[in-house]
This record gives sequence, C-alpha cells and structure tokens, in this order.
Amino acid sequence: MTTAPNTTLANATLEAAYAEAAERYRAANPNSAAIDVEAQASMPGGNTRTVLHYHPFPVRFARGEGARLYDVDGHELVDFLGEYTAGLYGHSEPVIRDAIKLAADDGWVLGGPNVLEARFASKLVERFPAIERVRFTNSGTEANMMALVAARAYTGRDKVMVFRGAYHGGVLYFAGSPLNAPFDYVMADYNDPEGAAEIIRREGDRLAAVLVEPMCGSGGCIQGTPGFLGALRSATTETGALLIFDEVMTSRLAPGGLHGDLAITPDLVTLGKYIGGGLSFGAFGGRADILDRFDPRQPGAWPHAGTFNNNVFTMSAGLAGLTQIYTPDTVAPFNAAGDRLRDRLNAAIQARGLPMVVTGRGSMMTAHPGEAAPKAPPEASGRNRRLIDLMHLDLIGAGIYTARRGMVTLSLPMTGADHDRMVGAFEEFLDTRSRVIEQAGA
Ligand SMILES: Cc1ncc(COP(=O)(O)O)c(C=O)c1O
Repeated sequence: MTTAPNTTLANATLEAAYAEAAERYRAANPNSAAIDVEAQASMPGGNTRTVLHYHPFPVRFARGEGARLYDVDGHELVDFLGEYTAGLYGHSEPVIRDAIKLAADDGWVLGGPNVLEARFASKLVERFPAIERVRFTNSGTEANMMALVAARAYTGRDKVMVFRGAYHGGVLYFAGSPLNAPFDYVMADYNDPEGAAEIIRREGDRLAAVLVEPMCGSGGCIQGTPGFLGALRSATTETGALLIFDEVMTSRLAPGGLHGDLAITPDLVTLGKYIGGGLSFGAFGGRADILDRFDPRQPGAWPHAGTFNNNVFTMSAGLAGLTQIYTPDTVAPFNAAGDRLRDRLNAAIQARGLPMVVTGRGSMMTAHPGEAAPKAPPEASGRNRRLIDLMHLDLIGAGIYTARRGMVTLSLPMTGADHDRMVGAFEEFLDTRSRVIEQAGA
C-alpha cells in the first residue's frame, strides 16, 4: 500500500481520482478481496453490518493490539475508527482482559442476578447527573427503543420527534431508511431551536418524546448548540413530552457526559459503546419516577426482558473500565488531546487554503467537504460525500484506518506519534488531491 498515487489521475476529476484509488486499494489487498468473495456465498454482500461495507470491499482484520489493527494482507494500520467510539480502551487493554478472565473463571450464563450488575449500575448513577436509575440492554439500538417505548407508556402519547439525518441505531436511522421501527415520527432540523420548539408546542399533548444526540456522532460530529438543546428542554417541559438524550457515543466527551457538561437535565439518557469495556452493551436511565415503573415489585410494573442484559462479561469489563481506566480524571486530558488533533487538521487545511473542515469535539471528529462547518447531518442535505470516500481509501493506503464517512475517533492507547502520523497522512492527502478537494468543496 505504499505505491504513490498516479499523479496524472490524482488531480483529474473526483470520479477519476476515486477510481484510481480504488484500483490501487484492490491491488494492495488481494487476501481481503478473496475472503470477501467467499463471504458473499453465505452473507448478503459478504456483510453483516452495513456501516462496515465500502467499495471495492472492506479490509479484513486478522487481529488488533493496543491502537493497532493487522489485516489479512500483512498491513499494520493505526486504528482511528476506534469501533465507532466503542473501542475507547483499544484492542488489548490488560485491565479489561483481566476483567473478562475473572468473569470467565466464575462461570457465565448464570440465569440470575450476579454480584457485578448493581456495582456497575451504581457507578453509572454516580457518574451521569441525569441518571437516577438505570437498566441494561445489549446495544445502543435496544436502549433507544426501550427509552422510546417507556416514554410513550409514561406519557400515554404516541408521537416521537427526531431530527433529519440523525442516527440512533439500526431501526432508528432518519436518512431515508425503510426499516425504521414503526413509530409515528415528527421530523425537525438539527440546530434549529425556533423550528423545533414550534413543532413541539404544535404537537402538544400528542408528542411523547424528543430523541436527540447532544452532538450528532454518526451524523458528522456536529455539536448541538446550547441554545438548541436548551430550547428542546424548555419546550418539552412546557408540553410534558420527555426529552431523551442519546449519549451512546457522546458520554465519553465529559466526565458526566455532554448533558453534565451543558448542565441540561434530560428526562432519559441512553448509553452504549465503550461503557461495556468493548463488549456488547447498552443502557437507558434517567428520572427515578419513570424508571421505577420497571420495578417488578410494583403492581402493573412494565416488563423489560433481555437474556444477556446482565451478562457477566460486559458487567465485569464495563465496571473495570469505568473505575480503573476511564475515570473522571482521565476524561478531560484525553478529550483535550482530541481538540488539539482537530485543530492541527484544520490548520493543515487552512495553510493550503482548501475548502474542507473538520468538526467535532474532543475525541470524536469528522472531515467534511466545503469551507463552512455543517450545522446539521450531511445526510439531511444530500451533499455529495465522494471526496470523503477518496480520503478514506487514501488514508488506508497510508496506514490510517478511519470510518468511511470521514469520522475519526481516538482511543486511550494512542500516542502522540500516532496523532503525528494521522496529521502527516492527512497533509499528504491534501497535497496530492488539492484539485479535486477544490472541485468538491466549491
Ligand atoms: C448515537 C447512537 N445511538 C445508538 C447507536 C446504536 O448502538 P448499537 O450499534 O450498539 O446498537 C449508535 C451506534 O452507532 C449511535 O451512534
């Protein structure tokens, strides 16, 4: 993958540049290509998780260690995808490994409450100000589904407000997916405080909940302004709709999550990703008077099932991670390093006078074409993202693994040298592809 781009094509049209990059990628990854063909016989397109697919085929990993990934063609990549924020601890953190071993030593599938779940729950309650009580699920999608159905049952109302382009899980993706859970949705625009508040008031006692990420993660690392999030809080308080903050990704950005940092108290909060230590995880929590409706000792208690909700591996790894590694003291310096990296990437763009921008906060960031930072998820605007596909393949060629959509997520085992390598690879992309960047950003 060290072959330099063909300079004639590299600065021709965007489509020509992309075709050339894809050809180079194909030539550098024959084993990944062969396994992909085999996989297609038993899985649709060789895939079981849509977000991991990209053209011409995804790089297939043999193993990971620290912040490094090793693919089946013998390349070492620095992992800047970080399992879409779930990989905070990297691939081989000894504390997590020991916690998994400890759980294994005591046996699993116990079929009853275990000694770890209440300790883990108490750490979440201690940490996140809006969470007075919490329940575990197996994924962020499930956590959001539970929060929505709980809000509908609590309020006795049907409608759910979401934002164009937002992603809240496999059945809650608001960029034209035909597979969404069949709630009665009301759509609004992210970062439009007046518009959203007006819709909330108009829907009045028909609206059960507003589901929002305080920073759109998959939607392009676009921060919700305090004015926007505050307007959602005020309008929902007025109408009695529940405000649900999806902090599946963003809870890593401040010691008490983004809601703690913004001092906005949603009624419900959903969690996921890294909090399970890198194992399957989700949780929903919030106001005691809402969550206590799940108290099975009460007559008419709401049911909430899930065979693996309290599985010992996740409980053990998650507890160890939050108490021994990602403690509140670690959160600020880790995310400050992310702010510095984002500043360096933007400085590299500005030094070259190119129309691109890297948005985000702390350890999560996304590159976008165009001079101006988007205010809402690009999926909502339908803007062409081909330049970002090209950047993705070019960075893989330089040993840097990012999300196809241009998202970069940091992990704890990363070093300053890894950040330098990211900046170097990005600068090379800017220099090699300057002409198509200008075309795409115009
Ligand atoms: C904001 C947000 N909510 C929910 C989810 C769904 O989590 P999971 O993939 O664990 O179902 C994701 C996953 O990317 C997410 O980014």
